[in-house]
Amino acid sequence: MEFRPLGRSGLRVSALSLGAMTFGDSTTFMKGLTSPDDEARRVFDRAVDAGMNLVDTADVYSEGRSEELTGQWLKGKRDRVLLATKCRFPIGFGTRHAGPHDQGLSRKHIIEACEASLRRLGTDRVDLYQMHMQDGSVPIDETLRALDDLVTQGKALYVGCSNYTGYRLVESLWSADRNRTHKYISVQLQWSLAVREAELEVLPACRAFGLGTLVWSGLARGFLTGKAQRGQSPPPGSRLAAWRDSLRAFDNDRGWGILSAVEEVARRRETTASAVALAWLLARPECSSVLVGARTVEQLEDNLKALDVKLTEEDLKRLNDASKLELVYPYGFINLREPW
Ligand SMILES: NC(=O)c1ccc[n+]([C@@H]2O[C@H](COP(=O)([O-])OP(=O)(O)OC[C@H]3O[C@@H](n4cnc5c(N)ncnc54)[C@H](OP(=O)(O)O)[C@@H]3O)[C@@H](O)[C@H]2O)c1
Repeated sequence: MEFRPLGRSGLRVSALSLGAMTFGDSTTFMKGLTSPDDEARRVFDRAVDAGMNLVDTADVYSEGRSEELTGQWLKGKRDRVLLATKCRFPIGFGTRHAGPHDQGLSRKHIIEACEASLRRLGTDRVDLYQMHMQDGSVPIDETLRALDDLVTQGKALYVGCSNYTGYRLVESLWSADRNRTHKYISVQLQWSLAVREAELEVLPACRAFGLGTLVWSGLARGFLTGKAQRGQSPPPGSRLAAWRDSLRAFDNDRGWGILSAVEEVARRRETTASAVALAWLLARPECSSVLVGARTVEQLEDNLKALDVKLTEEDLKRLNDASKLELVYPYGFINLREPW
């Protein structure tokens, strides 16, 4: 396994890490799409054996059950694994009433959510505590000061964010500088051959300010595995079958063009589509680690193949050309003078 620095922090993360969103029976957005506990346990064990040293969960995944299972399985392995979790959204959202302090990035919610996560995880500290999405209704200084307290108390060793816009990310860094608090070391973001918008703002900000990146949905929720083909229904029971809007976003000439480029390169490299799609991310210098979502050990084994794929210049050109982003204003305008 290759280890990469997480931004300018002292943490070293495995190039592929384990996403725990498929752990635990869910009653909300992942309903019917998670692994049975015994299979999830095998996925976890195999990931650690393969050298993955970071597990990413969140308080909302399977309404806390993902954190509980992760905590149980970490027993005896805690020193081998960096534990990352998140807060921001109300647990059970959409299915139960959430009060104003059951969500968001206020000091009240952050401190309470962190303590609840530690209880479920059965530990006294997480290695990386991440804000799951920006919250424009709370002053950024309040959020950063609450996180600084958690770091000072030893409940979180590092703090990161996820689903931030470029301006809010930079505002957070300014706040930390101004108030001399701990700052975000990493951004967790959606990035794949099919979804490249992070390249417009957030990735340039990460490059400029030295933040690490943890990539989510690197396989575009399964689309880049090739399990769905044009004009055919996706396999029953798969995420793409359940999340029709996700599939609709790729069900167009650009999406199918990207998949054919991935499949063509996979044939050339004698590997699988998933391995090529993940290898494309691993070839990007801004990528610290890709969070692998694997519902079964078989899927995990397939995704691990990405570590052995060496894409050539020709492969990269084929993939980049097929997935090229339309550069809207001002990026397209700037691109006339400075390649974006
Ligand atoms: N910060 C955020 O807002 C955010 C959001 C989403 C995820 N995340 C994190 O990122 C992790 C990964 O995200 P993701 O699950 O969306 O990633 P993904 O890799 O794009 O999708 C994973 C899904 O694709 C299918 N799949 C994966 N590997 C496969 C293979 N080799 N062959 C066939 N099918 C395969 C499985 O679904 P089926 O078997 O159901 O088809 C699996 O559940 C999560 O666990 C979580 O830690 C964070």
